[in-house]
Amino acid sequence: MLRNVKWIIVVSVLAITFVANATAGEVEVLHWWTSGGEAAAVQELQKMLQNEGHTWRDFAVAGGAGANAMTALKSRAVSGNPPTAAQVKGPQIQEWAALGVLTNLDDVAQAENWDKLVPGVVADIMKYEGHWVAVPVNVHRINWLWCNPAVFQKAGAQYPKTWDEFFAACEKIQKAGLIPVGFGGQAWQEATAWESIVAGVGGTDFYKKTLIQADEQALASDTMVKALDIFKRIKPYTDRNAPGRDWNLATTMVIKGEAAMQFMGDWAKGEFTAAGKLPGKDYDALTVPGTADAFLFNVDSFIMFEVKDPAAKAAQKAMARLILSPDFQVAFNVSKGSIPVRAGIAETPFDAVAIASMKDFEATAKSGGLMPSMAHEMAVSPAVRGAMFDVITNFYNSDMSAADAAQKLADAVREAKM
Ligand code: BGC
Repeated sequence: MLRNVKWIIVVSVLAITFVANATAGEVEVLHWWTSGGEAAAVQELQKMLQNEGHTWRDFAVAGGAGANAMTALKSRAVSGNPPTAAQVKGPQIQEWAALGVLTNLDDVAQAENWDKLVPGVVADIMKYEGHWVAVPVNVHRINWLWCNPAVFQKAGAQYPKTWDEFFAACEKIQKAGLIPVGFGGQAWQEATAWESIVAGVGGTDFYKKTLIQADEQALASDTMVKALDIFKRIKPYTDRNAPGRDWNLATTMVIKGEAAMQFMGDWAKGEFTAAGKLPGKDYDALTVPGTADAFLFNVDSFIMFEVKDPAAKAAQKAMARLILSPDFQVAFNVSKGSIPVRAGIAETPFDAVAIASMKDFEATAKSGGLMPSMAHEMAVSPAVRGAMFDVITNFYNSDMSAADAAQKLADAVREAKM
């Protein structure tokens, strides 16, 4: 009897192994998560896929906010050889889906109940003509100011709640011989700071008008001139080496106490975490002045390209399933600095910044303060975003007046819409 049972076990184990191997495939994954915190986060996905027997071929293209990665993706797709999966966000998902090259993920979505678990605002972005074509990974909040308390203390400066307090703190920090703002002068980083300032100066309705609806009158308005003025006033409080600097190097300046603050989305928290730093002790996350009631969000997501090989297909679907699994949502988002995108995930083991973010996400979804990020590709078409980026970077890096810049914004956006 016992012998028979043993045989049954051996045979079943073999059968399971055979099934597992028969469906074990390779996924080639294009992403731009190459900083310390980002790499730690994406490795969680790699590990989980490998645990199911699949192979991960890494196609990492460095460059914050993914512009380089998107160029690489287009050239691979044009040559008829796209990767199995690619990190793509917002309206670009729709553009890829319209080409008819994406895998329909409805079967995974149905089996895993995505329609119940993923908030409607996010699900809408992931679907094309009612079908799931992308998997959301997380929710990032953009309107953060990362602060080093020791630097503030050394300079006798206070954490700012208003723009006046912000510039008063900058003055003190600079007088103490420290760098007030750790900054990376790249167009996307400039736009990241600027959009938070637009929300902070103009409020949520103004943000919606200008950076979601791209309303030309609002773009050229006095309120925009004011927001642009504040944005430009930050420049003297950055250091000489800011132009071209990568965002994570600017975060490192705050981590090391060389700079007091950084305007950046909460992927910056991933860098603090990777460096072993704790919120409330080694660093603090404040909302950008004037934006306590706003939550500028961005959702990372993966699209999957149509593949023929059944093993590759199985690996692809496993990746989609794992991304929204509770274990992955916790492991990934703890490292990444973001919050889970699916419902029903406990607060533990998330840190205080993430827990505050989870609460604010819910509260702003009700109040109307939850708004897609323009800079991070959630709000406007790529053409309008490109037009805004051009004007903002030209304004920030020249002696253009704020009034001229506001008018140029409206003009450039009008042209991009045509
Ligand atoms: C992405 C983040 C990424 C950041 C820096 C953002 O657009 O959403 O996942 O960490 O860019 O590259």
